[in-house]
Amino acid sequence: MEQIDINISIESYQLDELSPQDQELVQAAIKATHNAYANYSRFYVGAALRLENGKMVIGANQENAAFPSGLCAERTAVFAAQANYPDSPIETLAIAGRNEKGVLPNPITPCGACRQVILEIEDRYKKPIKILLYGTQKIYCVRSVKDLLPLSFVDDNMR
Ligand code: THU
Repeated sequence: MEQIDINISIESYQLDELSPQDQELVQAAIKATHNAYANYSRFYVGAALRLENGKMVIGANQENAAFPSGLCAERTAVFAAQANYPDSPIETLAIAGRNEKGVLPNPITPCGACRQVILEIEDRYKKPIKILLYGTQKIYCVRSVKDLLPLSFVDDNMR
C-alpha cells in the first residue's frame, strides 16, 4: 500500500492586498451579482474574468423554470469569453456571491461542473487560470483550478 497525499495551495488576502487589476476584477464580479437572474434560488453570483488581451468579460448566474436549463455565473463568463475571444487565454477569474443579507462574508467556491469546465480551458490554452474567490472577510486566491479539482478527469484519461 502506498499513501498518496495531494497538497493544494490557497492564499488568503484582504482586498487592499490585491493588485489594482485584481481589485478591479473583484469589484466587477461583485457588481455583476446584480446581473444575475436568480428568481428561484435568490442567490446571486457574479463572475469577472480578464483575458490575456486585456479584455474583461462578465458573467452572472441565469436560472430557468426548467431548473437544469440555467447556468452558473462562472460558465456564463468563461463561455462568453471563449465565444467572443477564442484566441485569448483567460488569465484571472473573480467570483462573488450575494444572498438576501448581502455579499457573502466567506469566499464563494465554484461548483464541480464549473471547476471541470475551467479545467478544460486551462488545458486548452496550456495556461493556469488564477481564481479569486471573494468574501467580504477574506479573499481566497488559487493559482490554478487544479488546486480545486484534484484527480480530475481530462481528455488524456480517455487515451
Ligand atoms: N451558482 C453559481 O452561479 N456559481 C457558483 O459558484 C455556485 C452556484 C448559482 C447556480 C444557481 O443559479 C444558484 O447559484 C444556486 O445554486
